[in-house]
Amino acid sequence: MILSPSLLACDFARLGEELATLKAAGVPWAHVDVMDGQFVPNISFGLPILAAARRVSDLYMDVHLMIEQPERYLKDFADAGADGLTVQVESTKHIHRAVGQIRELGKRAGVTLNPGTSLDTLRPVLADVDLVLIMSVNPGFGGQKFIGSSVERVRTVRRWLDEFGSEAEVQVDGGVTAGNARALVEAGATNLVAGSAIFGAEGGAAAGVQAFRDTLA
Ligand code: DX5
Ligand code: ZN
Repeated sequence: MILSPSLLACDFARLGEELATLKAAGVPWAHVDVMDGQFVPNISFGLPILAAARRVSDLYMDVHLMIEQPERYLKDFADAGADGLTVQVESTKHIHRAVGQIRELGKRAGVTLNPGTSLDTLRPVLADVDLVLIMSVNPGFGGQKFIGSSVERVRTVRRWLDEFGSEAEVQVDGGVTAGNARALVEAGATNLVAGSAIFGAEGGAAAGVQAFRDTLA
């Protein structure tokens, strides 16, 4: 199971130290939430912050684009240091093309969808992706409550991927804690994003990471 701590919840004034703490804790990925104030009702950060993170860290940069028409910026995010780019099906009229563009840039392609969007919207591109992200909150903010029905959505997508032998990651994002991690992994999740559960943990991010390890051991 891969843990992808969401930098949205970290202390941006200490970004380099936060990334070093994750690395020392043995975490392989960092989740980078890009919000444009259009696709979601919040603005987070963009290219310069990703580039700064890339300069000081060799963690896998897992970039989640919550922006309208992400095709406009895929190359920029790839150049700024993304290893994987995940796009929302609702944000583009051309999800198949966007996935192809990510692959052409030599990056791992992910697709995601809001809790209110039918899983069927993913089916046409399932064979072309490296990661499917099941959003377990309405995107836009960290620290929201986990939507319980997401567990069934994880199970369904994992089954669809298994049907044709896909090894794509099934990632979950939003309200993920050490308390619900086991149920998600049992349903087929291979990759968990957590923001507040890691950076808001008593004892700091290293303790937050350890809590996930303990519950999944
Ligand atoms: C929500 C973002 C998430 C968020 C998760 O819009 O996509 O990645 O940072 O934060 P927590 O784990 O606090 O729900
Ligand atoms: Zn995210």
